[in-house]
Amino acid sequence: MRKPIIAGNWKMNKTPAEAAQLVTELAPLVADASCDVVVCTPAVNFAAVAEAIKGTNIKLGAQNMHWKESGAYTGELSAAMLKACGVEYVVLGHSERRQYFGETDATVNLRTVAAVKAGLTPIVCVGEKKEEREAGYTNALVVYQTLIALTGLTAEEVAKKVVIAYEPVWAIGTGLTATDEQANETIGVIREGIRSVYGDAADEVRIQYGGSMNPKNAKGLMAQPEIDGGLIGGASLKAEDFSKVVGFDK
Ligand code: 13P
Repeated sequence: MRKPIIAGNWKMNKTPAEAAQLVTELAPLVADASCDVVVCTPAVNFAAVAEAIKGTNIKLGAQNMHWKESGAYTGELSAAMLKACGVEYVVLGHSERRQYFGETDATVNLRTVAAVKAGLTPIVCVGEKKEEREAGYTNALVVYQTLIALTGLTAEEVAKKVVIAYEPVWAIGTGLTATDEQANETIGVIREGIRSVYGDAADEVRIQYGGSMNPKNAKGLMAQPEIDGGLIGGASLKAEDFSKVVGFDK
C-alpha cells in the first residue's frame, strides 16, 4: 500500500563533477525500480545532479533548509531556493545536525512545516542514542521527536507529504545495524504514535530505516512490514551498492 522510498544521504561528500558521475552511473542501474529513488546531495551539486538526472526516475534531495523565506541568515538556504534548483525532498533533523549544529526538536518542526507548505517533501529524521536505548526510553523518545516535528501539519499533509526516517544514532556510520526486528518494532511504535494524533494518516505515512544499511542487510530490513525504505549514508556513495539496496524494494 505504501510505496517504498530509498534515499541516499551523501552527507559532506562529492564535488559537482563527482556527483554528476555518480548519478550517471546510477541511473541505468535503478531505471526499473518500483520504489522512489532520491539522492540528497550537498547544495553545490544541485545543478550538476539536476542536469544528470533529467529523463531518469531519480529525484533530487537536499540535506537541510531554513524555515524563513529570506533574510539575514548567513549560510542558510530557503525552500524557494531549493525548489528553484529542482529539489523535491529535503532531509531535516538528521542526528548529525542535532549533534554538531545545535538542531533542536523545535527548529526541526519549523523546518518541517516550512518545507511542506513550500511543496517540498521533508525526510524527518528521528532516533535514539545508545545510552537512551539502554536506559529503556527509545519508544517514548522517538514518538516525542516525531510528534514535535509534525506539529502544525494536517493529517492529510502527514499522510501524503512527509517521510519519516528512523535512524538509531548508534547505527549511523558504525557498521552496527538495528536488527530487522528492532527496526520494525520501533518504526511500528512511531506509526502508532502518529496514529494517536493523526488517525489513519499513520497507515499512509512512509517511515524509512537508516543506519549502516547496505546491500547485505537491506533485504531483511526491507522485508519487514513496517519499514517503507531506507535512508542510506555510506553505501549511497557507490552506484553499485546503492542500486543493490534499491533492488530490494518491495
Ligand atoms: P550510514 O548508512 O553511513 O550509517 O548513514 C546513515 C545515515 O545517517 C543516513 O542519513
